[in-house]
Amino acid sequence: MTKASNKARARRAPGKDAIALLKADHRQVSEWFAQYAKARTGDRKLDLATRICNALTIHMRIEEEIFYPAFLEATEDADLHHEAEIEHDGAKKLIAAIEASGPDDGYFDAKVKVLSEMIKHHVKEEEQPGGMFAEARKSDMDLAALGQALAARKAELAGEIGDVPPGARKGSHGLHVSIGAS
Ligand SMILES: [Fe+2]
Ligand SMILES: [Fe+2]
Repeated sequence: MTKASNKARARRAPGKDAIALLKADHRQVSEWFAQYAKARTGDRKLDLATRICNALTIHMRIEEEIFYPAFLEATEDADLHHEAEIEHDGAKKLIAAIEASGPDDGYFDAKVKVLSEMIKHHVKEEEQPGGMFAEARKSDMDLAALGQALAARKAELAGEIGDVPPGARKGSHGLHVSIGAS
């Protein structure tokens, strides 16, 4: 990477290719899950759960709108593609359940824990040898262009999805959430 392109990246971050961008999202969310496991107060749990749910919602949207269709077209691997979408469906149901409750709910920790396990499994499926990302690398997908499209859509969605913590969907706005754009 040259200095000039590093500067361009800094101006217009993130300039990652599609897989690097999606993996960075995975790392960010798993870090928040780890922090949640150590969290002791309701406020902290709510903050982290909000970050996790919003980031995952956006991540799944950009995969489904942009990356997965491009993957299916390039590889024609319907099995990998369809399994990934079905796993997303499961995660979305649990995210909705988390968003509809809060740390006062005796099942809140369990919901977040089970979501973390589902996501851990799904991330492994995407990142493991022979998985979707490895197949994408082998294909003729334009990962640089897709990375730009993902980043642009992610920024757009971050403006729409963001400030509403679980348990307050109809209440006042609370936390400002940054979506791991490192
Ligand atoms: Fe993913
Ligand atoms: Fe995914």
